[in-house]
Amino acid sequence: MSIDYNEQLRDYLDSLVPERPAEMLAMEAYAQEHNFPIVGPASGYFCYQVARMIGARRIFEMGSGYGYSTAWFARAVQENGGGEVFHVVWDETLSQQARGHLEALGYGDLIRYRVGEAVQALRETEGPFDLIFNDIDKQAYPESLPVIEEKLRPGGVLIIDNMIWSGRIFDDSDQSPATQGVRELTRRITSSPDWIVSLIPIRDGLILGTRK
Ligand SMILES: C[S@@+](CC[C@H](N)C(=O)[O-])C[C@H]1O[C@@H](n2cnc3c(N)ncnc32)[C@H](O)[C@@H]1O
Repeated sequence: MSIDYNEQLRDYLDSLVPERPAEMLAMEAYAQEHNFPIVGPASGYFCYQVARMIGARRIFEMGSGYGYSTAWFARAVQENGGGEVFHVVWDETLSQQARGHLEALGYGDLIRYRVGEAVQALRETEGPFDLIFNDIDKQAYPESLPVIEEKLRPGGVLIIDNMIWSGRIFDDSDQSPATQGVRELTRRITSSPDWIVSLIPIRDGLILGTRK
C-alpha cells in the first residue's frame, strides 16, 4: 500500500524552519489568503542556507513577486557582510509592495529594484553574480539559461524553482508551453558539461546548479 504523504511532508518541512520575523509571517499569510505563489518557508530557508554557505554578496533574483524569496536572500547577504540583492518583477505594484516589506525587515540598503522583464534585466546588469535565483514564467526558463551562464561567476550557484511543477512534468499529455519549458531547461542543464546539478524535491522542486 502506498501512502500519499505530499501535503504532510510539505507541512513537516515547513514546521522545521526556525521562527521568522512577524513581517515574514505576514508575507506568508498574504500568500495563503491571496493564493500568491511564493517559494514558502522550507524552500526560502534552503535558499538562505545555500547563500550563507557560499558567502554570497551579489545575488540576482528573477521573478521576485512582493519580495518573500528576496527577504531570505537579503538576510543571507546581510549576514555575509553586506552586498546587493536584485529584486526584479515586471509589475510596478508588486515592486512597491516589496519595498514596504523589505524596508520593514531592515534590508532597504541591500536591495536594487528593477521593474521589467527579468531575462532582459539580467542581460542589462553587470555581473558577475555569486548566486542567481530563477522563478519567472516557466515557458521562458530555457531562454534564460544562456544569460544566466554569462552572468554567474565560475563556482557560482543557480537555484531554479518549480522544477517538479506539481507533477505536471510526469504527465506526457501535458505539452503546455510552461511544462515544456520546465522539461527543456531540466534537459539542457542536466546534460551540459558546464554544470553540476541536483534536483532537490523540497515543495515544488528546486534545481541547485553549480557552474563549473
Ligand atoms: C512565482 S512568483 C514568485 C515570487 C517570489 N520568487 C517568491 O517566491 O516570493 C513569480 C513572480 O515573478 C513575476 N514574473 C514572472 N515572469 C517574469 C518575467 N519574465 N520577468 C519579470 N517578472 C516575472 C510574476 O508576475 C510573479 O510576480
